[in-house]
Order: sequence, then C-alpha cells, then structure tokens
Amino acid sequence: MSTLQQQQPMPHLEDWDDFIAGRYREGKAQEEFRVYDAKANPGVAEFYRQNHQHQTLEYVRAKEAEYYPLSRGKKSIWEAAEFLNTLVDDSDPDTDLSQIEHLMQTSEAIRKDGHPRWFVLTGFVHDLGKVLCLYGEPQWGVVGDTFPAGCAYSDQIVFPEYFAANPDSKVPEYQTKFGIYEPNCGLDNVHMSWGHDAYVSKVAEKYLPEPAIYMLRYHSFYAAHRHGAYRHLMSAHDEQMFRWVREFNPYDLYSKGQSKPNVKELRPYYEDLIAEFFPAQLDW
Ligand SMILES: [Fe+2]
Ligand SMILES: [Fe+2]
Repeated sequence: MSTLQQQQPMPHLEDWDDFIAGRYREGKAQEEFRVYDAKANPGVAEFYRQNHQHQTLEYVRAKEAEYYPLSRGKKSIWEAAEFLNTLVDDSDPDTDLSQIEHLMQTSEAIRKDGHPRWFVLTGFVHDLGKVLCLYGEPQWGVVGDTFPAGCAYSDQIVFPEYFAANPDSKVPEYQTKFGIYEPNCGLDNVHMSWGHDAYVSKVAEKYLPEPAIYMLRYHSFYAAHRHGAYRHLMSAHDEQMFRWVREFNPYDLYSKGQSKPNVKELRPYYEDLIAEFFPAQLDW
C-alpha cells in the first residue's frame, strides 16, 4: 500500500457516507447490521482504524485552535459550495452525485416536507465543512462518526476495537466514564473528535438559529443521536436540542435515492435563501 493510500484509504470521501447509510438502513434487522460491519469495505475499515488511532484530545485541541478563529479567508456560501465541488473523484458522473447535488438533495427533501426556511438552509450547508479536505486535512480528520475525546470510548462507536491504538487509551485520566469532564457538563464543554461538523458549525454559528447549529455540529455523532450514548455528558438543554439532530439525520442519510436535483434551476431559490440568513461574504 502506498503512503497516499494509507493516508486516504477511501477512494471517495462519500464512501464513508454510503457506509453509514447502509449501516442505518431503515428497517434493517440487528443481525444484518452486524454482518454489514464485519463485511465492511476494507477502505472504510482502514479509514476508521486511522480515525480512531489519531483523534487524540491533543489533536482535537490543536485543530480547534487552528480553525475556530476562522482565519482561512472570506467566501460566500455559494463559493464554498463550488469550492467543495472541486473535490471531484473519478467516479461515474451519471450515477454519483456531486457535492452540491448531495447538499441540494438533502435540502430539497427537507423543503418537500414543509419545514421552515432555516431548516432547508441547514440541509444545504451541512457538509460544507468537508472543505477541510481541500485544505489538506486527511480523511480521518474530516469525516467519520464523531465522539468525545478525553473520556472513555463508548462501545456504540463503529469499530471500537481500533481505539486500542489511540495513545489516549493509555492515559488513565482519559479513560474513566467522565474523563476530564464534569457530569452533565453540556456538550459545549466537550472536545468532540475533529471533523467537518465542528468546522461548519463554527462558520455558521452567528447566522443560523440554535437548533440548526446543533444539527450541524452533531450530525455525525451517531453514538449519541442514534444509540443514546454519552447522556452523562449532556445537559438538559442538549437533550432538548438533540430532538433536532435526530429530525435532521434521515434527510442526510436517506435522501440519496431520490431524483438528482437540477442545480441550475434551483440556484435562484438558494441564492435568496442564503441571502436571508448569511452576509454576502463570511469568514471561513
Ligand atoms: Fe456530514
Ligand atoms: Fe451529508
């Protein structure tokens, strides 16, 4: 295996999203769920091995310090979406969706269900944090299920066995139930593994309502929103807000089968929607 393949084990970043969609396919039996994991495509398994090994508390803190000041320059939301679209792969353009198409498919499904405009917009921006890839961040630092660093790992996280290689698993202080945190301290005080969720939520924080920020920030926190893990770190307010995170998740996972959105036709609607909430240029 070449060094590049070791760094980027999945041929396409979407392989992770597809894996998750398969894992949480509606109506799937529990046994099928396990089989799916065991037979997981080796690229995705290797991706998780790297993710679980390298996402230490120290790494997370360093990435927060690097990206939270939003000093990567100004861009409009549409420019960011087009920038993300340059993350093309060599897959068949007839069957696979571009990044903008995935965003619009998600937001159009939300719109069809009659949800408020901020919710539709949240669908449109939810994966813009994947531009981290274009800044040169490795796949394991952009996508993947997120989890708290600095406390015991839940066995509800995919491939928990890979955490054995994480240096934090040798730090006793980080391996108690609460680790460095206080009981029910609130997720705002928790250092989540670094990725596209944390980054896009910081970018959007000043402009979208709080339920939207929760959706953005925790949409990959499957251990919590799908399995109910880490409630001992959540505040009562987090519990209330997670209703929104759960409401959002099916649109991210299950809108893919629907027809391909016509980006050109829909663009004016989205330009209006973006202008209603975001300034023309914002910090990234
Ligand atoms: Fe995502
Ligand atoms: Fe997504």
